[in-house]
Amino acid sequence: MEKTSIHGMWSSRTAFILAATGSAVGLGNIWRFPYLASDNGGGAFVLVYLMCIALVGLPILIAEILIGRHGRRSPITTLAALTRETGAAKGWISIGWIGIVAGILILSFYSVVGGWTLHYSWLYLMQAFGGAHITDPAATFSDLLANPWELAGWHAVFMGLTVGVVGLGVEKGLERAVRFLMPALLLTLLALVAYGATTGHLGKAASFLFEPDFSKVNAGMMMSAMGQAFFSLSLGMCTMMTYGAYLPKDISIPKTGAIVALADTAIALLAGLAIFPIVIGFGIDPHGGGPGLIFTSLPLAFDVMTGGVIYGLMFFGLLFVAAWTSSISLLEPATAFLVERRGIARKRGSLMVAGLCWLIGLATVFSFNIWSHVRMLDRDLMGLIELVANDIMLPLGGLLIALFAGWALKETVLREQLAGISPAVFTTWRWVVRIVAPLLVLMVLLNVVL
Ligand code: TRP
Repeated sequence: MEKTSIHGMWSSRTAFILAATGSAVGLGNIWRFPYLASDNGGGAFVLVYLMCIALVGLPILIAEILIGRHGRRSPITTLAALTRETGAAKGWISIGWIGIVAGILILSFYSVVGGWTLHYSWLYLMQAFGGAHITDPAATFSDLLANPWELAGWHAVFMGLTVGVVGLGVEKGLERAVRFLMPALLLTLLALVAYGATTGHLGKAASFLFEPDFSKVNAGMMMSAMGQAFFSLSLGMCTMMTYGAYLPKDISIPKTGAIVALADTAIALLAGLAIFPIVIGFGIDPHGGGPGLIFTSLPLAFDVMTGGVIYGLMFFGLLFVAAWTSSISLLEPATAFLVERRGIARKRGSLMVAGLCWLIGLATVFSFNIWSHVRMLDRDLMGLIELVANDIMLPLGGLLIALFAGWALKETVLREQLAGISPAVFTTWRWVVRIVAPLLVLMVLLNVVL
């Protein structure tokens, strides 16, 4: 009899692709990628990023989904079962623990920024009904950051919406949400790119994104690009492993993995092509915008363009939807673990994890106001959490996942899970996860530590 997951299963290939793409496409694509690219010299960053996706991201994505589907349980339980099955060292189970901790840390700040998208959607909604305009976006943004109550409140609303989906389960919650949210997201994004094209600055935006300036390539930039590749594809913390556990047996992992990686990359580039023409068109210097880039530059444009209110509502609504379908995938692994190990009901389990993430998220909330003076390693608290979780824990988790799939799992298991691919592709993939990807990740990681 075919093994299925006790948490439920995706009803089809499309459902899995939508869910995995929904996880991958998020704040990472629309908020983080454009400002990282503009802070790191545009095209050169994009090129290094694309190489990270192809050489490290996609092979590890395949490894994660494969481990998940073979184990069919939440990450820690899966890894415990697979170490028993293969006789591998118990230490591999740490992959699952790194994943749970990284997921909790990431969700803690992700939800704060998710709250910003709700706040801005709300401002434009009010404006559509005759409310006040955002005339000084820099002030609007800094007022929001200066107000811990408001930040914590939106952070709570965002977290509540995330629990609302995860609490309902795989089919009734996750799958039902992505089925209508993902098509809506794509349509909105295309409408925004089409608007960008009418500004007459699409060419400039494209050359900004695609013309590489190799003098900008350095260790720090390569680390950001690698960290971003892991973050954007939702890798290294067992999210994709968990989604893989719910994937029916007859669906090709390499094919669906490639579709998800392509869709994620395409949407990051499209987001750049939607945002930069507007930014450049309004004479704003796209370099060095940092995390505030889209929040402070786009509202300037939305205030003067025809139909700007609608565009503002569409843009921040899009950003919220993208963040929402990702945050559910950050909450799912730890929730599934509590359900399995502690026998806690899904609704309660998701609420417990989310509550913890909300509390930890207060560190990010306060890093913008009452604790803004607290600095470590030249970063504020939010920056520190991002550094530890995104740039160190995700690559480390990914490295271990690649090694586990490449060296610890039996070849028969790999062949069974990757049935249908050509022998050449199989061999290439295996050596990439055994040697190439781990070496590349290690090089970048050592750069961070040294
Ligand atoms: N990939 C999402 C984004 O780009 C964020 C995300 C969701 C994530 N699940 C993850 C990041 C797991 C790392 C690991 O916004």
